[in-house]
Amino acid sequence: MKNYRIALLPGDGIGTEVMEAAWPVLQAVADQQDFGLVGDCLPWSCDYYLEHGVMMPPDGVEQLRAFDAIYLGAVGLPETVPDHVSLRELLLAIRQGLDLSVNERPHRLLAGVTGPLRTDKAFDILCIRENTEGEYSGAGGRVHQGGDLEVAVETSIFTRAGVERVLRYGFERARLRSGKLASVTKSNAQRHSMVFWDEMTDRVAADYPDVQVTRYHVDAIAARMITHPETLDVVVASNLFGDILTDIGAAIQGGLGFAASANINPVSGGPGMFEPVHGSAPDIVGKGLANPLATLWAGALMLQHLGEAAAAKNLMTAIEKATASGAGTPDMGGSLSTAQLAQAVQAAL
Ligand code: NAD
Ligand code: IPM
Ligand code: MN
Repeated sequence: MKNYRIALLPGDGIGTEVMEAAWPVLQAVADQQDFGLVGDCLPWSCDYYLEHGVMMPPDGVEQLRAFDAIYLGAVGLPETVPDHVSLRELLLAIRQGLDLSVNERPHRLLAGVTGPLRTDKAFDILCIRENTEGEYSGAGGRVHQGGDLEVAVETSIFTRAGVERVLRYGFERARLRSGKLASVTKSNAQRHSMVFWDEMTDRVAADYPDVQVTRYHVDAIAARMITHPETLDVVVASNLFGDILTDIGAAIQGGLGFAASANINPVSGGPGMFEPVHGSAPDIVGKGLANPLATLWAGALMLQHLGEAAAAKNLMTAIEKATASGAGTPDMGGSLSTAQLAQAVQAAL
């Protein structure tokens, strides 16, 4: 029997709650398909930081390389540990350290879920977000700190290799879907990086004559996602733009409790990291209110990436059987707890 080694990183807040609920469901899916998921729980989190002064051990990223995949809950305890410390030193450090340069985020309405738009328009968008550079490069600094002449500089870095690999990934995906790709920039205002992105889009597009490319400015596509979602399919965007557009995608799906995310290295492989799009939600922690579907969906993305397509499909079918039957947490208008909704999915397997 094939066994996969999974690094479990529940993290903080509702991250631990959704992981605790979702992991047994994944185990049940694996049992049905005759493979094993061997989880190794790593306590790296803000609590770990408060005890050890670091979010993860210095060789944390190296430790993760030994796994087949990483399954993460959420990171952040903003009242206690500054977000720019906790997120930079754990979540972003893993994305960058493992060169998980593509972040794939599917947005569509699950069976039985209406979402706030309440329209009959088709909504099935795959956002491909650049995940290791751009606006998240971390380059920059501050001078005259605290003084009247203070300046803060945050430099976006767009490399040719970085832009090309995420675009190429998007074109490959578009080919397998509707053959339509939206390339997102703000090249009417940002004249270096975004003009470069447009040029790279044209270059890569030349290799994909079968894919129809449309350029959008990020503000316009943000509106279009809401007014004309049926005109969009694969959407490729930079790190920050993709971050914002995928929270819009999540909102259209019914909320952050639905949106799932796959961080992958399309160039040299290695373990991918699978997580819900949402954060640690301090406002609902400890109450059983967290929706586990995003984490379960991320689990399906992980199974797919591991090559267990049948298991991934079974899990998605079970998720949609549960949502179609009206099972839901309070954010969905239901009354089930985090654990109960996960159990409803497991029962539907
Ligand atoms: P958040 O995603 O944690 O919460 C935003 C809103 O969505 C809250 O009202 C919350 O209750 C709700 N929500 C989120 N997930 C939900 C779920 N599964 N079910 C029901 N409702 C849900 O964003 P935030 O409040 O801006 O951030 C809180 C902390 O999480 C911060 O420390 C932030 O930096 C961090 N964060 C981490 C990640 C991550 O680890 N991937 C992602 C986003 C934010
Ligand atoms: C996400 C999150 C992270 C991001 C934060 C927590 C750093 O919002 O995964 O969408 O911006 O990438
Ligand atoms: Mn985000």
